[in-house]
Amino acid sequence: MEHRVAMISGASGGIGACIAKTLTAQGWGLSLGARDPAPLQRRFPKALVVPQDATRSDEAAWVADTRTRFGRIDALICSAGQMIPEDIVDISDETLDLMWDINVKSPRRLVHAAWPDLVEAKTGRVVLLVSLSGKRVRSAASSSYAVTKHAALAMNHGIRQKGWKDGIRSTAICPGRVNTSMARAIADTPPGQMTQPENIAKLAKLAIDMPNEASMAEIMVNCDLEDQY
Ligand SMILES: NC(=O)c1ccc[n+]([C@@H]2O[C@H](COP(=O)([O-])OP(=O)(O)OC[C@H]3O[C@@H](n4cnc5c(N)ncnc54)[C@H](OP(=O)(O)O)[C@@H]3O)[C@@H](O)[C@H]2O)c1
Repeated sequence: MEHRVAMISGASGGIGACIAKTLTAQGWGLSLGARDPAPLQRRFPKALVVPQDATRSDEAAWVADTRTRFGRIDALICSAGQMIPEDIVDISDETLDLMWDINVKSPRRLVHAAWPDLVEAKTGRVVLLVSLSGKRVRSAASSSYAVTKHAALAMNHGIRQKGWKDGIRSTAICPGRVNTSMARAIADTPPGQMTQPENIAKLAKLAIDMPNEASMAEIMVNCDLEDQY
């Protein structure tokens, strides 16, 4: 199982960067997507770092570059995402389209483009950074984001259904507030009381390391007590 290759979107910061650090320490080959590749390339000199903007439909080109460099793709970690706090009644079509593109359509295009490689791997893995907002709607302000994350959770289950016979396993990681710039911008919880991104990286690694017979469909993680999560 050495020299497996993972593609990670949103690797420039937050959870994606923590996952990249964790996997590089484990000897994975990394193909990282970022809107601004240069700083990420300096941070991960052995990785392939490719310009990727979720709004530009450039996932197929990124997959092609990854194939050329590594000759295989074993795992996709879809971490790029945006949370724009707008309620679902008053949000503009343009703002909803932007979140829809980044949180749903771009990871779907990435999975589509890399599907033959995941089938070839026989133990292909997909990890979608969803959210507890994919499980419940906690406020009006988070409701538009929640709409996209509910769709991302449904996508995770669609990938599981389609990929099962080919050994592909897909996991939705659904955290509450994680100590990254995303949550710090909107929550007044002290950063030390949020879930730390390093712990989300451990869960992503667990999900891609598990054998086909130990599939984890959803992983819920919270720093707060809620009724069910
Ligand atoms: N933090 C939380 O509390 C939390 C909770 C639940 C779920 N999540 C989910 O976890 C994932 C990672 O979030 P995070 O906490 O790590 O947030 P973050 O620190 O804000 O990182 C978001 C990442 O997404 C990238 N991104 C944003 N727009 C993009 C675009 N148009 N094209 C390509 N990349 C783009 C960012 O790249 P740039 O550097 O170029 O901006 C960045 O690397 C997201 O899907 C988020 O919804 C986060």
